[in-house]
Formats: sequence, structure tokens, C-alpha cells
Amino acid sequence: MSALLELKKISVHYGMAEAVRGVSFALAEKEIITLIGANGAGKSTILKAISGVKKPTVGEIWFQEERIDKLSPEKIVARGIAHVPERRRIFPYMSVHDNLKAGAYLRKDSEIGPDLENVFHHFSILKQRLGQMAGTLSGGEQQMLAMARGLMAGPHLMLLDEPSLGLSPLLVMEIANIAVEINKQGVGIILVEQNAALAFRLAKKAYVLETGNIVLEGDTAELLNDQKVKEKYLGI
Ligand SMILES: Nc1ncnc2c1ncn2[C@@H]1O[C@H](COP(=O)(O)OP(=O)(O)OP(=O)(O)O)[C@@H](O)[C@H]1O
Ligand SMILES: [Mg+2]
Repeated sequence: MSALLELKKISVHYGMAEAVRGVSFALAEKEIITLIGANGAGKSTILKAISGVKKPTVGEIWFQEERIDKLSPEKIVARGIAHVPERRRIFPYMSVHDNLKAGAYLRKDSEIGPDLENVFHHFSILKQRLGQMAGTLSGGEQQMLAMARGLMAGPHLMLLDEPSLGLSPLLVMEIANIAVEINKQGVGIILVEQNAALAFRLAKKAYVLETGNIVLEGDTAELLNDQKVKEKYLGI
């Protein structure tokens, strides 16, 4: 089976500084993979390169057998990649409903109703809060809104950047369960997490980054048997 997404030796620079160095990996249809690593390792930069927000300086990115690394972020969303960035960048002064509609800006009007129903299926709390200004939602609700807005684009692939950040253990579980449900509907997921234990539970494969390089990769089930990995990345 061909890959849903493939990164071929991409490097990304900020000015002269190389944040990502020759990174390659592939994601199959409907797969969940995780990128883990310390602060500044390059995880968010890789997601930005995939969604087109930050262009790679070297290498290629392919999605559904089309090269996408030269496309605009809008075109990449239209191809089916939804990026849910770090720190839940919702529109705080807009209602929950308007935030959701903003996520669907490339969709046909006829698709928005069913998309909203799908979002409420996963995030029932948002249905009760449609008229509320998004900035007044709790941290957990804002994370749900950020993911829900991504889902409104009808993606085949979601890029989730640290969805668990700052949430209580109970909410982390809830968000994790929702990610699994979304995946079961056929959406591939790249999960960036500092919470490696959580990431390993959800993902089939893990890629460990250090200063822009992949230093370790493998099936999470196998990596969990590796004592060094457990000590260094999972703290167990
Ligand atoms: N806009 C920017 N301008 C200059 N350098 C940047 C910019 N964004 C990121 N960097 C640098 O690129 C490197 C990778 O950053 P990135 O945000 O991808 O790391 P990360 O793995 O997501 O870290 P974190 O876990 O803290 O979110 C870091 O050294 C960072 O300082
Ligand atoms: Mg980051």
C-alpha cells in the first residue's frame, strides 16, 4: 500500500539556523504516528512544513501521491491536511460556532451541516457552548474547539501539536479517546507530544527527534520493551 504522507529528507531553516535536518518518514493511510523529543527538537517545525506554513529548504513532501511542499497552506488544507497548532490558536473573540465555521471555510455549504454533526458527535460539550465567546472556554474546551475546527475541514490527516499541554489527567484521557475515535473514522494522525507515555499508547510508530534529527524510530510496542528508551523518554 502506498503511503498517505511521505517526507523525503526535508530540512527546514529559520534564517541561517537549521531547525530540521534531513528528516524522512512515511505514514500509511489511517495510521497514528508520534514525534517526540525535547523542547526545540524540531517537532512543531516538521508539522509546519507539512501544513505549508514554513517551507522546507531541502527535500520533498508527498501526500496522496502528489508533491505538496510548494503548495500554499490553503491548498494543503484543501487536499485534506488539518493542522491543530500548539497552544490552541482559536479565535478568542469569536463564538464557538463562528470558530467552527472558520474551520470549514473551504467546504461547500451543503457539507457544513453534516460536518457540524460529526464534530458534535466527538465533542458534545461544544454543542452546548455554540454561542459562547471562544476565549472564555476552559483550557480543555479550547483544545477541543481547536481539534473540532480542524475536523471541520474534513481532513484525511490531522497534525496535532501537543494536545495534552496544560490539561488535567482526566481531560488528557478524554482528548486521547477522541483522537482514537477520529482515527477510527479513517483519519491519519501525526501526534506531537512531550507526554511520551501518552503518545506511545496511541501511536503505532514513534520517531524520536534530537536537535532536528531523527535519532530513533520504531514500532511503539517494540520500543516499549527497550529499557534505554523507557528510561530516557518515558521516565519508567
Ligand atoms: N520562528 C522562528 N524563528 C527562529 N527560530 C525558530 C522559530 N521557530 C522555531 N525556531 C527554532 O527552531 C528550533 C525547533 O523549534 P520547534 O518549535 O520546531 O521545536 P519543538 O520540538 O516543537 O519544541 P517544543 O517542544 O518546545 O514545542 C528551535 O531551536 C527553535 O528555537
Ligand atoms: Mg513545539
